[in-house]
Amino acid sequence: MTKYIEENKDRFLSELFDLLRIPSVSTDVEYQPDIKKAAAFIAHKLTEAGADKVEICPTKGNPVVYGEKIIDSSLPTVIVYGHYDVQPADPLDLWDTPPFEPTIKNDSIYARGASDDKGQMYMHIKAFESMMKNNTLACNVKFMLEGEEEIGSVNLGDFIRERKEDLKADVILISDTGMISVDTPSITVGLRGLSYMELELTGPNRDLHSGMYGGAVQNPLNALSEVLAALKDKDGHITIPGFYDKVEVLTEEERAKMAKAPFDLDAYKKALDIDKEFGEKGFSTNERTSIRPTLDINGMWGGYIGEGAKTVIPSKAYAKVSMRLVPHQSWEEISDLFAKHVESLVPDGIKVKVTAHHGGTPVVIPTNSTEYQAANDAYAEAFGKEPIPVRSGGSIPIVALFKEELGLDSVMMGFGLDSDAIHSPNEKFGIFNFLKGIETIELFYKHYAKLKK
Ligand code: BES
Ligand code: MN
Ligand code: MN
Repeated sequence: MTKYIEENKDRFLSELFDLLRIPSVSTDVEYQPDIKKAAAFIAHKLTEAGADKVEICPTKGNPVVYGEKIIDSSLPTVIVYGHYDVQPADPLDLWDTPPFEPTIKNDSIYARGASDDKGQMYMHIKAFESMMKNNTLACNVKFMLEGEEEIGSVNLGDFIRERKEDLKADVILISDTGMISVDTPSITVGLRGLSYMELELTGPNRDLHSGMYGGAVQNPLNALSEVLAALKDKDGHITIPGFYDKVEVLTEEERAKMAKAPFDLDAYKKALDIDKEFGEKGFSTNERTSIRPTLDINGMWGGYIGEGAKTVIPSKAYAKVSMRLVPHQSWEEISDLFAKHVESLVPDGIKVKVTAHHGGTPVVIPTNSTEYQAANDAYAEAFGKEPIPVRSGGSIPIVALFKEELGLDSVMMGFGLDSDAIHSPNEKFGIFNFLKGIETIELFYKHYAKLKK
């Protein structure tokens, strides 16, 4: 750890705690005032750290916080991307400590957003502060911190198109992913894409007495169960015609290289309390969560779910289904294939409405670039070990757009762990990860400036 980080770590943590106390949940309009508070908080911290032109930029949705430090136009420019919005905290009763009252336990910070992404985003602001205070900043920096990542970055596309001139840079730097473990550093070189669908099935025009009508009309919940069960077979294959047509096929050599990353299946099952893993036949657990697409029901509802028993045939049934995609699947195309297939599966006597929510394009990042090398060298220096490139199962839809719109590749230096429980109750972020992240980020700037000379 550097002297500056050592001397200031308690303050870094207490500032992060202030940010974590703001419930900036983007999915729910009720939290709009907190979204604004979080944006103002980080704008203020960017200014304090030494950024110029700090601006809370309005969009059609939640604001983007921008700030920059241009020290010399001949130096390379890094855009730091992160998000200050968080997922809802529910179910609340499963949290051991309140989600928006950060608590330290076993050397970790417990709070919604601790790892995804406030804790990781804040590492960048503190690394910047440290470099400003110690006069070691070796690149120009532009911060672009958004408040809509968890709802699909719906307005960030317009923002980057409108601000193309301001966003001229050499690379995008992001900490919004994970690493293998605290002693096995890794760099994320892939993200899956996403197609998110919603189904509404309608049977009779009103809820019916299940004794008077039961057996004579289609029940939309029964029909929904049939439709959803048919989307995946016992081998974990998705049955939508054409779904796998464009899926990138890796060579045996590439797969063998991937298999070298350390992974302990028993520990994995134990951490999740499951007696058996499940996934597409013919692929390892790591492959199933990175290079293969998948389909999951995220929620289904309808009928009577209150206390006791109500004998009813509901009029409506609903489900949310998402598919993780890999190169070269297109989410628009997959959403279409999904809708057509579902329509073909729905039995007579039921009407169906299929809607597509936001989508995301999968990405794979080359490892033979200057920026990858700089990140590699930064980890090697900070951890005393070369990082392993890994393709992650999660999605950050904006990363593909950065490439398309700005022509920029991203370096994803994630410091989260699988056990951080992001999006779940008791989300946490290790204090070691937070401080080590700050140190490694500073080293990235140093190595990047050196390699770009
Ligand atoms: N930070 C995550 C994405 C992530 C997590 C990538 C772990 C790799 C490893 C991000 O905030 C997220 O949750 N993304 C959503 C997609 C978004 C469109 C809601 C996701 O992956 O479900
Ligand atoms: Mn995130
Ligand atoms: Mn997230």
